[in-house]
Amino acid sequence: MPICFFVLIGCKSFDYLTKTENTFPVAKTCGDCHVNIFHEWSESAHAQAFTSSDFLANTNEGDFSECLACHTPEPKLTIGRPLSRHVLPEDGVTCTACHLQNGKMLGPIESTATVQPHPIKVDKALYTNAAFCGRCHEVTFQQWQISTIDSKKTCQECHMPSIVRKVTQGKDAVSNFLVSMEKNAALRKHTFMIYPEQEGYQLFEIETFFDSNSITIELKNNLPHSFPTGNFGVQIGVLQIKFLDSDENELESEKIEFVQEIKTNIPSGQSKKLIFNLPEQTTKINVIISREGRAGKKQVELLNKEVLLP
Ligand code: HEC
Ligand code: HEC
Ligand code: HEC
Ligand code: HEC
Ligand code: HEC
Repeated sequence: MPICFFVLIGCKSFDYLTKTENTFPVAKTCGDCHVNIFHEWSESAHAQAFTSSDFLANTNEGDFSECLACHTPEPKLTIGRPLSRHVLPEDGVTCTACHLQNGKMLGPIESTATVQPHPIKVDKALYTNAAFCGRCHEVTFQQWQISTIDSKKTCQECHMPSIVRKVTQGKDAVSNFLVSMEKNAALRKHTFMIYPEQEGYQLFEIETFFDSNSITIELKNNLPHSFPTGNFGVQIGVLQIKFLDSDENELESEKIEFVQEIKTNIPSGQSKKLIFNLPEQTTKINVIISREGRAGKKQVELLNKEVLLP
């Protein structure tokens, strides 16, 4: 295949995609062909790992070298925690930090294209393993390792939703033609976000016990890590209860926060019992579980459930 490829591309060399001597190919370069992946990544926390106002404020504008390893990792795939790079920190957790090794792009799938602008190497086991994320998410990965919940999913399964599509997308006549010869494959989006819904999986379980004038709520964390997880920045999970009368009017509302910093987060598989006074005339309660987002991001609602009084 290389022959037809060089005819189409006009003998262009793609060496720059795997060279990392004084600089390295930034994410935008990869986005010339991996269009969808680049757009997803651009919106993710990984792209903002150095430029986020929170990180800059906590590191004297990115000056603390001990903080840079995971936020501006070296442009190559490492075993364990990466070292920090000293060029183009704005590219945050960039593509090459997860994919480039010895001049090849490592990934999970067998070749699906007729041309290879850069060499590839397949290692499915590595990319589908939670330890791959644990290189930087050390605390969350430790929580995951000791979690004993049933049918435990990997980080990728929840934070990189699956999708069937091609590995690259076309931008002009030549690339459109090359892409048209690629095969579809079962891939994962590079959004690295929190998703409230997981197919066939209940993130939380709620049990309610009523007394004449109180209600006990038992909240069980079915996630394979703490609720909330994370150990850097401000990590807060929220349980909100609204007490409603028969006309759906809100009588009262209460909020409990679970905060990582003061260790009130709920470990994987464990429950917390919370007791509330029941206002008179309550006929229904509304339980809402949410996650405070990173600085500047909105709350993510993870569960919204109504319970009728017996
Ligand atoms: C934090 C690590 C990480 C970063 C950063 C990252 N990837 Fe990935 N990438 C993965 C993982 C994990 C998979 C495997 C997902 C799966 O199981 O299908 C993957 C899969 C891929 C694949 C294989 C096909 C597919 O869509 O699944 C390509 C191509 C790819 N990434 C390109 C990129 C590009 C381009 C960027 C930057 C814009 C990037 N990646 C950033 C971790 C990362
Ligand atoms: C000129 C287009 C082009 C550019 C630019 C490009 N890629 Fe690719 N990439 C491809 C094509 C085409 C494939 C599929 C090759 C195949 O299936 O044989 C691919 C495959 C991959 C794979 C392998 C997926 C797997 O699981 O086997 C990874 C990872 C990857 N690219 C990452 C990157 C990264 C990171 C960059 C930026 C440094 C980049 N690519 C830049 C065209 C490109
Ligand atoms: C090279 C280090 C590194 C690797 C590897 C890595 N991450 Fe991250 N990740 C980070 C950093 C740093 C942040 C925090 C960025 C910020 O908000 O400043 C982060 C943030 C996140 C977030 C938070 C998103 C949000 O909106 O708050 C999720 C989810 C996430 N990563 C998932 C993953 C998954 C899944 C993997 C494995 C496929 C992975 N990460 C691999 C460094 C890494
Ligand atoms: C069953 C789905 C699921 C799995 C598996 C999972 N997570 Fe999560 N993750 C969530 C949900 C839901 C939240 C929001 C609640 C919380 O913080 O616990 C979250 C939150 C996070 C956050 C915090 C985001 C922020 O705003 O700062 C990070 C980081 C993260 N997960 C990383 C990981 C890593 C790393 C793994 C694997 C070791 C993993 N997750 C496995 C569902 C999952
Ligand atoms: C071992 C890798 C690693 C190192 C070293 C590291 N971080 Fe992080 N950082 C992360 C990950 C992963 C996240 C995502 C949330 C979490 O897991 O706490 C994060 C998230 C953050 C956030 C939240 C970002 C936001 O947008 O809300 C801040 C702030 C932060 N880190 C500051 C620091 C500071 C300050 C240091 C140095 C003292 C540091 N980090 C060192 C991995 C690291």
